[in-house]
Amino acid sequence: LRFLCYANDGIDEHMIWLIGLKNIFARQLPNMPKEYIVRLVMDRSHKSMMVIRHSNVVGGITYRPYTSQRFGEIAFCAITADEQVKGYGTRLMNHLKQHARDVDGLTHFLTYADNNAVGYFIKQGFTKEITLEKDRWQGYIKDYDGGILMECKIDPKLPYTD
Ligand code: ACO
Repeated sequence: LRFLCYANDGIDEHMIWLIGLKNIFARQLPNMPKEYIVRLVMDRSHKSMMVIRHSNVVGGITYRPYTSQRFGEIAFCAITADEQVKGYGTRLMNHLKQHARDVDGLTHFLTYADNNAVGYFIKQGFTKEITLEKDRWQGYIKDYDGGILMECKIDPKLPYTD
């Protein structure tokens, strides 16, 4: 099992995984327009942390790091249907936090969580209370109804992965 984070960098293997992840999002997030999913997953300012098993994508999280503001916006998060509730979603988020802190230099994540995923995000340390100062994120992430804005503070020292 591997946890790998890539943007659309033109490398064939990475592109194949990003396409696989895009297909998981399209299936697991039926309310999201497919063109919108493709656009963000393939957008060069977005990165995707992926769970790879036997060179197949099991799931992932696509996010946009705003490095000047030191926060990241999670756009999509999903695990393929037959692998859900086995702990992959938790391990994925831990790898994302570690990468976002140590590679991107981020201190927080924000996301618009679907109603039915709020429980998952709460278990990953997200809250509905937003403590990040508004001037750090306002104007960077767009308002979107059909989701609940949630925040996660990334611990500056905690080892999230082993
Ligand atoms: N609601 C409440 N709790 C949940 C949910 C949920 N939808 N999904 C998982 N959990 C709980 C699990 O029971 C588990 O609890 P435990 O630690 O007490 O046992 C914990 O969260 C972690 O479970 P994992 O097995 O690590 O989660 P999983 O691998 O299933 O991944 C995910 C969670 C990503 C939500 C997955 O179920 C999925 O893809 N769902 C469909 C797509 C979806 O809703 N994505 C999020 C949309 S919002 C967005 O993308 C910004």
